[in-house]
Amino acid sequence: MISNFRKNKSDSGTENIKSLNLPKHIAIIMDGNGRWAKKRNLPRIAGHKAGVEALRDVIKTCSNIGISYLTLFAFSTENWKRPTQEVNALMELLVIYLRKEVSELHRNDVIIKVIGDISKLPETAITEINKATEMTSNNSGLTVNIALNYGGRSEILLGVEKIAKKILNNELKLQDINESVFSNFLYTKGIPDPDLIIRTSGELRISNFLIWQAAYSELWFTDIYWPDFKGKHLIKAIKDYQKRKRRFGGI
Ligand code: FPP
Repeated sequence: MISNFRKNKSDSGTENIKSLNLPKHIAIIMDGNGRWAKKRNLPRIAGHKAGVEALRDVIKTCSNIGISYLTLFAFSTENWKRPTQEVNALMELLVIYLRKEVSELHRNDVIIKVIGDISKLPETAITEINKATEMTSNNSGLTVNIALNYGGRSEILLGVEKIAKKILNNELKLQDINESVFSNFLYTKGIPDPDLIIRTSGELRISNFLIWQAAYSELWFTDIYWPDFKGKHLIKAIKDYQKRKRRFGGI
């Protein structure tokens, strides 16, 4: 279902996007908040705040053009290494974001999901996440997956652990393990692999994001810092994606 987020000038460019061959699932590594702030002599936190603002236009654009899944890398398993003050500020921003935006997302039929080990997050964050996911669980529009305390390697290890337990309990046979069975033991169970992965800020890495799921994803990089990334940049990425030939190892 295509939602009815209010349209404005920033939607320009969406009208001639081909609805055939749209990526079903777009994943974004939202990088460059710190450098965006530094360039303006602002504290890093100001960059993250601006990063949260950037989410609105991107989610609205995805919803309006009929993208099914949008996965956002908001906090990695490695991000705990940042100064406590920055980690705390990111967690607070998440809580503020959810409190402020969930009703509008819900009105626009968005489903909010989380991937990652959220048990390590502050209690207030867990409460808001649970409220948001429960409130939106019966919607049928765009699914926004927020990756929080997420790491691709730890996701795979967790999957291996769960499978090993099933085998030990005679609930699964060794010979029954295949790629599709394994995928069901990942956080992304039931979600198609990303067709398009976008990374902002000029870095050309995957950084432990969806490493199993990204096997055949198309990658799209831009020098733009995340806080400056708008719906029109997303449209450009999708149009580039639509020109690519995906062969999945075939010819
Ligand atoms: C990378 O920029 C960004 C992050 C580690 C966090 C991304 C988070 C947000 C956009 C906001 C929080 C999300 C939600 C859903 C509320 P960086 O700090 O690594 O930038 P730098 O590489 O320029 O230092």
